[in-house]
Amino acid sequence: MKEVKVGLIGCGTVGTGVCRILIEKQHLISSRVGASVILKYVADLDTETDRGISFDDNIFIKDAFQVIGDPEIDIIIELIGGKTIAKELILKAIEKGKHVVTANKALLAEEGEEIFQAASEKGVSVAFEASAGGCIPIVKTIRESLIGNRIKSMTGILNGTCNYILTKIADEGLSFKDALAMAQKNGFAEADPTLDIEGGDTAHKISLLSTLSYGTRVDLNDVYIEGITGITPLDIEFADEFGYKIKLLAISKALEKSIEVRVHPAMISCDNPLASVHGSLNAVSVTGDATGEIVLYGYGAGMMPTASAVVSDIVDIARDLVSGAVNRLPSSFPLVSTSPVLPIDELITNYYFRFSAADKPGVLSKIAGILGAYGISVKSVHQKGRKSKGPVPIVMLTHIAREADVQKAISEIDSLDVIDDNTVIIRIESDQDEQE
Ligand code: HSE
Repeated sequence: MKEVKVGLIGCGTVGTGVCRILIEKQHLISSRVGASVILKYVADLDTETDRGISFDDNIFIKDAFQVIGDPEIDIIIELIGGKTIAKELILKAIEKGKHVVTANKALLAEEGEEIFQAASEKGVSVAFEASAGGCIPIVKTIRESLIGNRIKSMTGILNGTCNYILTKIADEGLSFKDALAMAQKNGFAEADPTLDIEGGDTAHKISLLSTLSYGTRVDLNDVYIEGITGITPLDIEFADEFGYKIKLLAISKALEKSIEVRVHPAMISCDNPLASVHGSLNAVSVTGDATGEIVLYGYGAGMMPTASAVVSDIVDIARDLVSGAVNRLPSSFPLVSTSPVLPIDELITNYYFRFSAADKPGVLSKIAGILGAYGISVKSVHQKGRKSKGPVPIVMLTHIAREADVQKAISEIDSLDVIDDNTVIIRIESDQDEQE
């Protein structure tokens, strides 16, 4: 039987899961590939921790460059993450003519062009199913299943940590800090969880998926990114009263002359399929011109779900090696356009505002006056009863308005002496009827 040899670099949470699948299901995978898929090396600086897997002697080494330098290795799996040594290792592996499987969304979103270019010149594959949505086959869906479509839009919950935190606050009343600590303990969060909670990780994923879908380069610097650190239990409670859930959304749309790519918390109607995505689960809704909307759903983070996606890439490449059809699938659709990303100022959507205001005559009219002056039409106003002295929350839901007007109006409102704290602004994504 032909052999396909694999070297894994970075044996953390996901790497351990990949080793488990490759070692414990070696026969199953080999029979599915039609070749013996052999994990020849695992490189990690930490060779001491017991990963609960019985590795053959001499598999585990510290030196990643030894793996890349081994002429027997066909496929390098890069699971170190980040943009420093991982990039060097991937480029070196490509230079040596090895195929690469990676889950490194930060690297691909920010410097993918250089990597894909190098791979294409060398005629090798760079596969990255695990870089977005954990076990959800979103990359394969875009590259293969929807190949006959023009992708019109994607909306996703793409960060398991944020979705887990928002769920724990909403359903169990946990504090943000405790919920984040639990996400870290469960192995969802990035080494630097700022990337999760500030929206950077989601932005990496949606930028990558947008480039893949529209064949246009997305510069991460043009993507509006807002995380979940400003979301409070009070806003979650209000959302609930209006029939909404708050989710960190990745939103991407192909417009006529531009594309929209943005990441921020949003209120979505409870009827929206994404509203019932809980915990570390992820989901992506993709709308193709032929298919209409499809929704993919599954675990977006964690050891075995993400390992499953990595192994699917290994198997794809191994099958191509066996059939002699190497690089059968290009890493991405060809870059066919240079559509700019729509500046967030030009966004038109519905809004939720929560003002922290003095509870006295005339306050509401001052707020409404400023909103009116900027052409922002209020749909409804809600005020909770006064529980103690001091400011009260006044919530307004708006008809569609322009982001630039909203920002100017709120900044003016926040400078009023009857306003106690910065106004909370949450975009509402579910009132599609108004937007169309
Ligand atoms: N930190 C990421 C998440 C891991 O929470 O979704 C998967 O990319």
